[in-house]
Amino acid sequence: MTGYRIGPLGGLIDTAAFHCGQAALDEYIRRYASQDVRRNLARVFVAAPAGERRRLAGYFTLSAGSVGCSDLPASLARKLPRYPVPVALIGRLAVDSEFQRKGLGAILLADACRKVAQASAVLAVAGIVVDAKDASAARFYAHFGFVPMPGQSNRLLLPAKALPA
Ligand SMILES: CC(C)(COP(=O)(O)OP(=O)(O)OC[C@H]1O[C@@H](n2cnc3c(N)ncnc32)[C@H](O)[C@@H]1OP(=O)(O)O)[C@@H](O)C(=O)NCCC(=O)NCCS
Repeated sequence: MTGYRIGPLGGLIDTAAFHCGQAALDEYIRRYASQDVRRNLARVFVAAPAGERRRLAGYFTLSAGSVGCSDLPASLARKLPRYPVPVALIGRLAVDSEFQRKGLGAILLADACRKVAQASAVLAVAGIVVDAKDASAARFYAHFGFVPMPGQSNRLLLPAKALPA
């Protein structure tokens, strides 16, 4: 694999052939993603292998959100106010089965973190929250420093101080 081009979801990419092993994530990119973009509910970014602009290898979504102080890990909650704090939300992140375990998930996650770090210069966030679909996905995020949120085993957080400078 020589590399990927990551850009906003557009009409050119073929979403119909995408299979990641989680039917809900396949269905989302095929049927709902462009609608969410149009309604300003999410930004959706897609990765295509270099030289195959129509091929969908993976995607992720970014939205704004907020979490209550009691949902945060104690170490972070101690330093924050008692009212809900703003976060960035990686609502979905998925890699096509054919491209899994070859480093694309890590590339997409790093790109998402970079985009949030850039956006946070003009729109403050206390961290990035991800909703992992299952325990295996949660382990993937934990591998990159995300910490489980108390009482929500598949919801994890990366504090803003861990974002790239
Ligand atoms: C989870 C997923 C995004 C990982 O993507 P990927 O391209 O296969 O992952 P990568 O090859 O980039 O792996 C990066 C690192 O994470 C580790 N990793 C990958 N999947 C993992 C898992 N399920 N559990 C623990 N670690 C995992 C890899 O071993 C690798 O470690 P290394 O850097 O030490 O080599 C992908 O498997 C997927 O789309 N699964 C189905 C959909 C899903 O569950 N999405 C997440 C929920 S929103």
